[in-house]
Amino acid sequence: MRNISSVLGRLAKSISISLVLLFAVTMTSNAQDAKEGAALFKANCTSCHKIDKKFTGPALAGMSERHDEEWLVKWIKNSGAMIASGDPMAKQIFEEYNKVAMPAFTQFSDDQIKGIIAFVKEEEARLAAGPAAGAATGGAAASSDANNFMIIGMVAIFLLAIGVIVILSRVTKTLEKVIANNQAAVEAARVRNESVEESGRVRFAQKFLKNKKLVGFTALMVVGLLAVLGWQTMWNVGVHQGYKPVQPIKFSHQIHAGVNQIECQYCHGGAYKSKNASIPSANVCMNCHNTITASDHYEGETSPEILKLYRAVDWNPDTRTYGDNPRPIEWVRIHNLPDFAYFNHSQHVTVAGLECQTCHGPIETMEEVYQYSPLTMKWCVDCHKTTEVNADNKYYDQLIEAHEKLKKGEKMTAAMIGGLECGKCHY
Ligand code: HEC
Ligand code: HEC
Ligand code: HEC
Ligand code: HEC
Ligand code: HEC
Ligand code: HEC
Repeated sequence: MRNISSVLGRLAKSISISLVLLFAVTMTSNAQDAKEGAALFKANCTSCHKIDKKFTGPALAGMSERHDEEWLVKWIKNSGAMIASGDPMAKQIFEEYNKVAMPAFTQFSDDQIKGIIAFVKEEEARLAAGPAAGAATGGAAASSDANNFMIIGMVAIFLLAIGVIVILSRVTKTLEKVIANNQAAVEAARVRNESVEESGRVRFAQKFLKNKKLVGFTALMVVGLLAVLGWQTMWNVGVHQGYKPVQPIKFSHQIHAGVNQIECQYCHGGAYKSKNASIPSANVCMNCHNTITASDHYEGETSPEILKLYRAVDWNPDTRTYGDNPRPIEWVRIHNLPDFAYFNHSQHVTVAGLECQTCHGPIETMEEVYQYSPLTMKWCVDCHKTTEVNADNKYYDQLIEAHEKLKKGEKMTAAMIGGLECGKCHY
C-alpha cells in the first residue's frame, strides 16, 4: 500500500510539473502574439494588403523570406523614412508600386509588429494548405479553440501514458510473483504428476482477478479513457465548423465575389441593415444570368448549372419569357444558431464595422461555402472580451444625445435608444 501511494505521490508531482510546463509553453508561444497580430493586421493592413494577392500594396505571402525580421519591423514602422534614407530594397519596392507610399505605423511596438509578421506567416501556411485546412483550424478566434483542444488532447495522452506505465510495472510485479509461484507449483506438480501448463494458466487468471489493485486500476483507466472521449464528444455536439453541404446549384463565391468582385451587399444587403443577412432570390441572379450563360465553358451550350437556375425561375431562354411555374431554389442553410441565441448582423457589420470575413472567413475564395467559425458561445464571448467598441457612429451618437437630454431633465423615450428598430423586436 505504501508503495502505491508513494508511486502515486511521485506521479502527481510529475504530472503537475508537466502541466505547468505545458501551459507555460503554450502561453508564451507565438500563438498569442499571432492572435494580437491578427487583430492588428485586420484593423490596419487589410485595406491595402492581401496575403496571397496583389492589392493596393504587394501580396504579403513570402515577405519573411524576402526580408529579414529587423528590416520588416523598420519598414512597417516607417517605410517613408527608410525610402528617404536610401535603403536600396525599400527604394525598389517603392518604385515598383508607382510610388504609392504606405503609411507609417510608429505607434506599434516591435513585439506588436512581430505579432503581425507571425500572423502573416500563419495565414500563408493556412492558405497554402487549402480551404479544407482553413475549415479545420478556423480563424484567429477559432485557432484558440484548436489550441485548447490540443492541450486537452495532450493531457489525455500524457495521463494515458502514465496509466500504461503503472499498469506495466504492476503486471511485471505480478508476473514475477506468478513465476515464483509457478516454480513452486512445478515442484509440487512433479511430486503430484499434474499438468503444469494448465494449472499455470488458470493460476495466472486467478492471480489477476485476485489482485484487486490491478483489476481496479485497469477498470479506472478504461473509465478514464471513456470519460475523456465522452467529454470531447460532448463539447463538439452542435458544433458544425467546416460544415459544407451540397447546394442545389453549384454557386461559387469564388467566381462571383472573388473573380468578378461582386460586393457582398449586392446579394446579402440584409446584413448591413437588419438582423438577417438574407440569401438573394433567384430574380437577383437573373439580373445577370438572363444574358450570362457561361457558354464559353460548354462548347457554346448554356451551362447546366445555369439551366437549373432557368428551371427554378421558369425562364425560357429561347423566347426570353418567364412561365408561370417558378419554384424557389432550396439552398441548404449552412450557418445556424439555436433559436434561443440572438444574433444581429447589422449590429456587427454596420455598427461595429466588422468585415464579413472576420466571422465567415475568406468567402471570396470559396468554391463552396463552408462554416468557417465554430459559432459556439465561447466564440462570441471571446470576441466580445477582446474587440474594442467603435463608438464613433450614429448608434452611439443617438445614445449620447438621449443621455444629454436626460441630464438636462428632458424625457428619454425607448424610441431614442433604438426601440423602433425592427431588429430589436423581430427575428
Ligand atoms: C494605405 C495603404 C497601405 C496600408 C494601410 C499598409 N500598406 Fe504595406 N504597402 C503599401 C504599398 C503601396 C506598398 C508598396 C511599397 C510602397 O510603395 O511604399 C507596401 C509594402 C509593404 C511591405 C513590403 C512588401 C514586400 O513584399 O516587400 C510590407 C511588408 C508591408 N507593406 C506591410 C504592411 C503591414 C504589416 C501593414 C499594416 C500594419 C501595411 N503594410 C499597411 C500600402 C499599404
Ligand atoms: C451573386 C450573389 C452573391 C454574392 C455577391 C455573395 N453571395 Fe454569399 N451567398 C449567395 C448565395 C446564392 C448563397 C447560398 C448558396 C451557398 O451557400 O453557396 C450564399 C451563401 C452565403 C453564406 C452562407 C449562408 C448560410 O447558409 O449560412 C455566407 C456566409 C455568405 N454567402 C457570405 C458572403 C460574403 C461574405 C460575400 C462577399 C464577400 C458574399 N456572400 C457574396 C450569393 C452571393
Ligand atoms: C452581377 C452579375 C451576377 C449575378 C447577380 C449572379 N451571377 Fe452567376 N455569374 C456571373 C458571372 C460573370 C459568371 C462567370 C461566367 C463565365 O465564367 O462565363 C457567373 C457564373 C455563374 C455560374 C457558373 C456557370 C458555370 O457552369 O461555369 C453559376 C452556376 C452561377 N453564376 C449562378 C448564379 C446564381 C445562382 C446567382 C444568384 C444567387 C448568380 N449566379 C448571380 C455573374 C453574376
Ligand atoms: C460577428 C460575426 C459575423 C459577421 C461580421 C458577419 N456574420 Fe454572417 N453570420 C454570423 C452568424 C453567427 C450567423 C448565423 C446566424 C443565425 O443562425 O441566426 C451568420 C449567418 C449568415 C448568413 C446566413 C443567413 C442568415 O442571415 O442567417 C449569411 C448569408 C451571412 N451570415 C452573410 C454575411 C455577410 C454578407 C456579412 C458581411 C456583410 C456577414 N455575414 C458578417 C456571423 C457573422
Ligand atoms: C468578431 C467579433 C465578434 C463576434 C465573433 C461576435 N460579436 Fe457580438 N459584438 C461585437 C462587437 C464589436 C459588438 C459591439 C457593437 C456595437 O458597437 O454596438 C457586438 C455586439 C453584440 C450585441 C449587442 C450588445 C449590446 O449591448 O448592444 C449582441 C447581442 C451580440 N454582439 C451578440 C453576438 C452573438 C450571439 C455572437 C455569436 C454568435 C457574437 N455577438 C459574435 C463583436 C463580435
Ligand atoms: C417594439 C417592438 C417592435 C418593433 C420595433 C417593430 N415591431 Fe413589428 N411587430 C411587433 C409585434 C409585437 C408584432 C405582432 C403583433 C401582433 O401579432 O398583433 C409585430 C408584427 C409585425 C408584422 C406583422 C407580422 C404578421 O405575421 O402579421 C410585420 C410585417 C412587422 N411587425 C414589421 C415590422 C418592421 C418592418 C419593423 C421595423 C420598421 C417593425 N415591425 C418594428 C413588434 C415590433
